[in-house]
Amino acid sequence: MITIAYHDGTPENEKQTLWAERLTARLKHIRLVPLSAPHAKDADIALVWRPPVGRLRQLNQLRLIVSLGQGVDHLFSDPHLPDNVPVVRLVDPDMSHALSHWVILALLDYLRDGPAYRLAAAERRFDSLPQRQTAQMPVAVYGLGAIGRVIAHRLAALGFAVQGWSRHPRDLGRSIQTHHGEQGFQNIVSNCIAHICILPLTAHTTNLFSADVFAAMPAGSYFINAGRGHQVEEGALLNAIRTGHLAGAALDVFVEEPLPDTHPFWKETRIAIWPHVAAQTNPDTAADQVAQAISTVLAGGQPEHIVDKFRGY
Ligand code: GLV
Repeated sequence: MITIAYHDGTPENEKQTLWAERLTARLKHIRLVPLSAPHAKDADIALVWRPPVGRLRQLNQLRLIVSLGQGVDHLFSDPHLPDNVPVVRLVDPDMSHALSHWVILALLDYLRDGPAYRLAAAERRFDSLPQRQTAQMPVAVYGLGAIGRVIAHRLAALGFAVQGWSRHPRDLGRSIQTHHGEQGFQNIVSNCIAHICILPLTAHTTNLFSADVFAAMPAGSYFINAGRGHQVEEGALLNAIRTGHLAGAALDVFVEEPLPDTHPFWKETRIAIWPHVAAQTNPDTAADQVAQAISTVLAGGQPEHIVDKFRGY
């Protein structure tokens, strides 16, 4: 019997039954146990999101850690994460699809004045605002991995002039101009009027969007974050919006989640706040990858999408 220690970050492990059903349909002789249960200590596999710090180190039979999300910063922030156990992250086209929809929604809602029209409707005002011209508007996508590429291509198909940035050079075909490295970052920041962050959280991307970077964006820029909260200096973002240099932001991720009641973002109407839901993990579409990674490891092989611990993604 293969034991999978499960933790999804909710107090009740809400989706454990769904995962157990999806995985037993694909793998023989497995059982899911809560990561906090005493018998999880003998687990072969951990399937986890934000596990309690130090807990994975206590599982001394562990052969594989699977992140229940595309990001793995919730694992690497544990200083006791066992370093001899491979970590696999989800790479699920369904999540890239969902995330691209959220980004498109956030961008178009802003560009077509959704917030102002919803307010007008609530007050029964049938008023129009001048329509923004968006054809060939320069839009930056930061992060060109599995998700960023889908976003970039879909925005290009909507008629935006999409530019992409990554640390290392990437080719996304003729419709997307790509930049890389530090100089490339400065160029794209100052070229574009909408900025979409989809980067993984690493030492290089922590606080990447600082006061200087917001100041370097053209006046009236809009900022969208579906990466991680720690990539943004939140005070600097708020200041850039309050002074009117940035037009606003749509944020799905925050330095502290849930966003505290007292956080000043709540009061800023030019910030659209989403509770980290841009792409939720879907057991129906992710189970194949998870089952495949587990059976490969049990057979002594190397699963796909192993995280490079030095790169952090
Ligand atoms: C969500 O934030 C994820 O990492 O999948």
